[in-house]
Amino acid sequence: MVPARNTILWGDCITLMQRLPGGSVDFILTDPPYLVRYRDRSGRTVANDADASWLKPAFTEMYRVLKPGGLTVSFYGWNEADKFIAAWRAAGFRIVGHIVFCKDYPSSRRFLRHHHEQAYLLAKGRAPSPSRPLTDVMSWDYTGNRLHPTQKPLAPLERLIQTFSQPGDLVLDPFCGSGSTLVAAERAGRSFLGMELEARHHATACLRVYS
Ligand SMILES: C[S@@+](CC[C@H](N)C(=O)[O-])C[C@H]1O[C@@H](n2cnc3c(N)ncnc32)[C@H](O)[C@@H]1O
Repeated sequence: MVPARNTILWGDCITLMQRLPGGSVDFILTDPPYLVRYRDRSGRTVANDADASWLKPAFTEMYRVLKPGGLTVSFYGWNEADKFIAAWRAAGFRIVGHIVFCKDYPSSRRFLRHHHEQAYLLAKGRAPSPSRPLTDVMSWDYTGNRLHPTQKPLAPLERLIQTFSQPGDLVLDPFCGSGSTLVAAERAGRSFLGMELEARHHATACLRVYS
């Protein structure tokens, strides 16, 4: 089955990705649960944020559906970096870059005030370098998290999509939440495929992208 374009699927992304042919996606930009038992001030949580059983199978599927020479950008939780890196390597990805996103506000504080988000750039085989490489330190705007408890800002996502994919390419986000990657892909002139486990977030993403 050729992946449907500009579609948001509701369900477990491991099962959903198993239905896609190998090599059918051009670029993956994803923001999976950070494995930190996230809970915001109003009590909102993120599904699968306390359990890593999905981690290896999800990245194994991402590697399979990505085209040879394709790239993946994955956000991750810094305190569980070893688990993410092990899953990426076990899937076959090569680590080719690391990006720090600077916030002008601390998202939490304990021993330090936490002023950054982070993502790795991962390659499937030999990926071509972009003609204009991005800086690996990028700015970050607060979204207010109105649509999702961990809603990502559109501007850095759009820059990543523009740099690591071509117009018309298919961009996959298997943990799409409120659909930020999908909106950014659309703005950049790419096709998108989103997947989300929670019905309420799937509904938000559909409203955001289709209305
Ligand atoms: C960190 S959030 C993504 C937020 C998103 N970047 C945004 O801006 O709205 C991770 C999302 O993955 C979803 N999720 C967790 N496990 C999943 C699974 N197995 N399949 C699909 N989605 C899953 C969660 O419900 C959550 O919405």
